Amino acid sequence: MKVLVLGGGGREHALVWKLRQSSRVSQVYCAPGNGGIAEEAECLPVDLKNVESIISLGERLKPDLTVVGPELPLTLGVVDEFTRRGWPTFGPTRAAAQLESSKSFAKEFMQRHRIPTAHYAICDSAQEVRAALTHFHAPIVVKADGLAAGKGVVIAASREEASQVAGEMLSGKMVGTAGARVVLEECLKGDELSFLVVSDGERVVPLVAAQDHKRVFDGDKGPNTGGMGAYSTPDIIDDRMRDWLVHHIAQPVISGMKAEGTEYRGVLYCGLMMTARGPMVLEFNCRFGDPETQPILMRLESDLLDALEASVNGGIGEVDFRWSQDSTVCVVMASGGYPGAFELGKKITGLDEAARVEGVKVFHAGTTKRDGEFFTAGGRVLGVTARAGDLSTAVQRAYEACGKIKFEDAHYRSDIAKRALRK
Ligand code: AMP
Ligand code: GLY
Repeated sequence: MKVLVLGGGGREHALVWKLRQSSRVSQVYCAPGNGGIAEEAECLPVDLKNVESIISLGERLKPDLTVVGPELPLTLGVVDEFTRRGWPTFGPTRAAAQLESSKSFAKEFMQRHRIPTAHYAICDSAQEVRAALTHFHAPIVVKADGLAAGKGVVIAASREEASQVAGEMLSGKMVGTAGARVVLEECLKGDELSFLVVSDGERVVPLVAAQDHKRVFDGDKGPNTGGMGAYSTPDIIDDRMRDWLVHHIAQPVISGMKAEGTEYRGVLYCGLMMTARGPMVLEFNCRFGDPETQPILMRLESDLLDALEASVNGGIGEVDFRWSQDSTVCVVMASGGYPGAFELGKKITGLDEAARVEGVKVFHAGTTKRDGEFFTAGGRVLGVTARAGDLSTAVQRAYEACGKIKFEDAHYRSDIAKRALRK
């Protein structure tokens, strides 16, 4: 089978790496890919912001399966376009992807289907914000309705700050048109959990859970990022909690979407806060998480292709998912300055030494290769991922590998999975 993976980050590197282990996959293409992915798949240029560009790639390759990594092509309707042309494609349609592309859609959907989530208000003007704020106590979460690449959520310490941030979003200054509508939310406390399921439109099968680290600095300080590291262990949640999350969150979403005529296939990423009142949904993503996919797929022992195909064709309940009892952790090495401005083109050394550390796989995110050498080409540069029989050894291996990799102004958190280790 010929498989095409759309995207060029660490998540897509992990997808390519895992798909190549399938005996039924003969060829893997990745578009646009990155320096590291090019070692394992044929990388092709594409403009993921442009559906025509993606369609013409599809016409050239006629892939037996396309896997869409990032949210943007999904919300532009790539799955609709490919499916209409008879090209099997993994992921939700544009209408179903609204669960991620519109936070107000997701909130109202959750309210209709009694899915636990924070109290909220949807506002289209500064006046509506001021009126709604009287019902909230600080801190207050202010969210841009549309896609904002992780920059659309601010936790305001006071009503005044919330009002100011909401005003900046509404005016278009902060995140452009994504902020033309804002969602105010009560601020939830607890541990975050990334709970991903695969659905065929009818049923769901959970993947092993993971925890992301969204803030840029140690101790969860500094601004939010796309994710600075993630881990997964066999006991991150127990079987009872997993079943609860399926029955009270993931399955009701899939059944509700079907009942409303927007059948949802693909990965549903439930971003949860495990609060004293029980698990609550912070957000849905309509795709695999990045960096969660790296530690999650490292624990998958069965064939990923079986799961992706069953999502497209039906029968996800019959797929044999087998998971390793190992623990895995991914530490993201980023460019200095990320998630703000950063420079590109820094030479990366030590990748071979890092890959020789036991249990380690270095997934590339923002890298490019020139004349046999790797250079930085994005904010998140590498996802140094390690596995071991216990979390503490996995963490030690990941950091040993990080220590061998050098590029100017490299930055990474030194406390990924630390809270879990303390427990
Ligand atoms: P979202 O894009 O909605 O997941 O928000 C990004 C991050 O903001 C989440 O991973 C949380 O760390 C934080 N966040 C979002 N909503 C809330 C909330 N209601 N309470 C507390 N933190 C939140
Ligand atoms: N790591 C969070 C995300 O993929 O959105």
